[in-house]
This record gives sequence, structure tokens and C-alpha cells, in this order.
Amino acid sequence: MKGGIDMARSRTLERHLSDDGYGLMIRALNELHYAGETSFYSTASLRPCEKHLFDRYGHDARILDVGCGAGRVTKAITERGGRITGVDINPTAIDVARQTCQDADFVCASMTDLPLPDASFDQVWCLRFSFNALPTVVERINTLAELWRVCAPGGSMFVEVFNWHHRGRFGLVRIANLLDQYARVLRWHGEGKQRSAPIPARDILYLANKAEGAAPGFAHLTTVREMQQLGAAAKLDRYATVISEESLLAGTRTPIRPRHSGYSMWLAATKPGGLS
Ligand SMILES: C[S@@+](CC[C@H](N)C(=O)[O-])C[C@H]1O[C@@H](n2cnc3c(N)ncnc32)[C@H](O)[C@@H]1O
Repeated sequence: MKGGIDMARSRTLERHLSDDGYGLMIRALNELHYAGETSFYSTASLRPCEKHLFDRYGHDARILDVGCGAGRVTKAITERGGRITGVDINPTAIDVARQTCQDADFVCASMTDLPLPDASFDQVWCLRFSFNALPTVVERINTLAELWRVCAPGGSMFVEVFNWHHRGRFGLVRIANLLDQYARVLRWHGEGKQRSAPIPARDILYLANKAEGAAPGFAHLTTVREMQQLGAAAKLDRYATVISEESLLAGTRTPIRPRHSGYSMWLAATKPGGLS
């Protein structure tokens, strides 16, 4: 892989499943999972970080909501007078989004390959961990390159991701994630490397918690360094900074340390040029 990230760690898996095979499997799981959770992703209210993004950057902007789900953010933004387009790969979610919010445009497409013109949005937002749903390194790089391509000069992109180094209460989340990862590798060795190939590092499968009866979900948890490397591979490293939610809310864009232990982090980038 170009940026030298993750691939080394993913090789264990790739010897057993092709990258494409794994991608297909997770994309199928994502489709089921998010189709089952539209009740939550069409109705939940805006979080403080989302209100902040709109208040600070969104009022006169053409906004793109990437991985928009069932229209939660698009609806709230249009109600505030904003101009927003939603894009999501999930046809069920897009159908619900179109019913939830009649004042926005929606496109059913993958964020890895956006059917949208260059420089067509002033604000490009990938919120609430939609980026973590991408199963492969290639998809993550292509997505950042696509978000950057559709961002207009003078505009900004913001990508919110779950943090692999999140500690949780008493460090329990971190400990559990590490044990889970080591257990997969140990089980695989214990079975003579014949079965249960460990899924790639920092990938997790979890029980759906937003809507009863939904299929399990997938997330690839990222690190600060990984986000920097993905940004570099997508050729936006000169403009991108990885910041905490607190920094986003304070408008400071202070880079966070590699072992940042918060729940989330944001890749924030502003494109040079334009009027601002
Ligand atoms: C956690 S939900 C977030 C929904 C919405 N952003 C919100 O905050 O309400 C993640 C969304 O990402 C979408 N998604 C996953 N992979 C995608 C891809 N390759 N392209 C576009 N959307 C994708 C899923 O279909 C799902 O609707």
C-alpha cells in the first residue's frame, strides 16, 4: 500500500481472504446493519459538534453530508435554513432520507467514488463515524481523496472517526480491545492457522445498539497516526490536521498527540484558494 499503513498488519488476513473478499463481506454486513437502524438515523437530534459545524461554517455554504444515513443531519440542517446534499451507499437509508427530508438532494453512491463534480461543495462532512464503516485501506484513501476533490477552494472537510486508543472508564475499553485482538491471533495459532483467520487489526464487530433487531455492525477503529498517513496517501497532508472534538468546538485546530485517549478524533482540512 502506498502510505505503508495498516497493510502490514492486514497481511495475516489477506493471506487467507482477498482484500476484495473481506471488503465484500463487510459491505454486505454494513448494508444489513444500516438498513435496520434507519429509525435512529432519521430521528436523533443534532449533537453539539454538528450544531457547531453548521453555526461556524455552514450558513451560506453548499454542504455535503457523506454517509448521511436516513437523513438525520440533512433534515436538521435544512430546518435551520442550510443547503445540504446527502450521499449514502445504502438504498434503504436513502429511501428513508428522501421521506425524512424533502428539502435536500440525496445521492445513493459510495463515498469511495462520488458521482459529483470537482469543487462542488464548500463544506464536506463525514459525520458520526461513517468513515469507520469502510473495510479496507484502499477505500479509506480513495474516500479522503474524493472528499477533497469535491471540496471547493476555501472550503473545508471534516471527518469524524472512532479512536482505537480510547481508554474508557478505568482504561477498560482499551484493555478489552487489546485482549480481543490478541485472542483472535492466539485462537488462529491454536488451530494450526487452519481456521478463524483473525480479522485485520483494529477492526471490530459489535451488536447493534441503535435499533432492536438490527444486524451486527462493523467498525475499523483508527489512530491519529493512521489518519495522518491516510491523509498523506490521499495527498491532503499539507492541509489536514487531526484534532479532538474539544478542539473542534473551540475552533482551535490544535493537533492531538498520537496516543490521544478520547472517544473520537476529527480530520480537519481547509482547501487553499477561494475568497475566504
Ligand atoms: C453510523 S451511520 C451515520 C449516519 C449519519 N451520518 C448520521 O450521523 O446520522 C454510517 C452511514 O455510513 C454509510 N456508509 C457506509 N459505507 C459507505 C460508503 N462506502 N459510502 C457511503 N456511505 C457509506 C452507511 O450506509 C450508514 O448510513
